[in-house]
This record gives sequence, structure tokens and C-alpha cells, in this order.
Amino acid sequence: MERTFAMIKPDAVERGLAGKILSRIEGEGFRVVAMRLVKMTKAQAEGFYAVHCERPFFGPLTAYMSSGRTIVLALERESAIKHWRDVMGATDPAKAAPGTLRKEFGESIERNATHGSDAPGTAAFELGYWFPGVSLHGA
Ligand code: RTP
Ligand code: MG
Repeated sequence: MERTFAMIKPDAVERGLAGKILSRIEGEGFRVVAMRLVKMTKAQAEGFYAVHCERPFFGPLTAYMSSGRTIVLALERESAIKHWRDVMGATDPAKAAPGTLRKEFGESIERNATHGSDAPGTAAFELGYWFPGVSLHGA
């Protein structure tokens, strides 16, 4: 069993899509290990996305991520990291495959409904960032 970190981003929470996305999470066989509704500060968003600090979209991204309520999740499943990335689809909803969450619910490359860790190292960091004590392979 593996764990990954997921978020339902402000655009999706604000449009009342959290229930549909959580239902899909359960339908895909994930166990919700931890879940919390957060209104992150700009500083928390900057710490979370520190890997992107040199990118031109860092300012708008962290402003957007701290603009509304977000649901942060620790999810467990076999191949959880890859499976959640597959369920989300491509970063840009316009390029995401049919049936993926970003295709179905994303509005733009920034307002793309969900987040998922992209590798074991980032999953370990992101899980610990929001859920101290929750590790990549828990009991
Ligand atoms: P995420 O981290 O949110 O799961 O998304 P991702 O891996 O598919 O994409 P990543 O490259 O990590 O980018 C993080 C988030 O930054 C926003 N973004 N904006 N304006 C742009 O060109 C641009 N590129 C990325 C998106 O919200 C993306 O999810
Ligand atoms: Mg990413």
C-alpha cells in the first residue's frame, strides 16, 4: 500500500464539486487516511509550492491557492501516486483525457480542480506538510 497527497482546489470547492470528487476518490478504491478543510495563507501556499518558486506562474498560483477554501487529503491505495495522477489527468484541462477529473471539472490550467503528488519524494513532503505524522507507507 502506498499513500499520496491530494487537494480539491479552491475553484472546485467554491463550485460545490467536493462531494462529486470525493465520491470518485472512493469509487477508485482509495481509502481516505486524513482530510481537512483549509484556507491556506499565502505563506503556506508558497511553502507548499516552493519547488516552483522560480516559475513565472508562482505568484499567481500561490495567490490563487490562498484565495479560498481547499480540501487537503491523504489517500491510500495500491500505486496511489500514479493512480491519482491518472484519475486527475493532464495539468491543462484542455489537454486532459476524457473521463479525467480535470477534463470534467477543470476551468483553466490554474483553476484545474485538483492536485496530486507527482513522485514518492514529493508525496512524502506534501503529506507531512499538511498532516504531521502521516508518512508514505503507514500502518
Ligand atoms: P499539481 O502540482 O497542482 O498537481 O499540478 P501538476 O503537477 O499537474 O502541475 P505542476 O507543473 O506541478 O504545476 C502546479 C500547478 O501550477 C499551475 N500552473 N500554472 N500558468 C501556467 O502555465 C501554469 N502551469 C502550472 C497549475 O495550477 C498546476 O496545477
Ligand atoms: Mg505538481
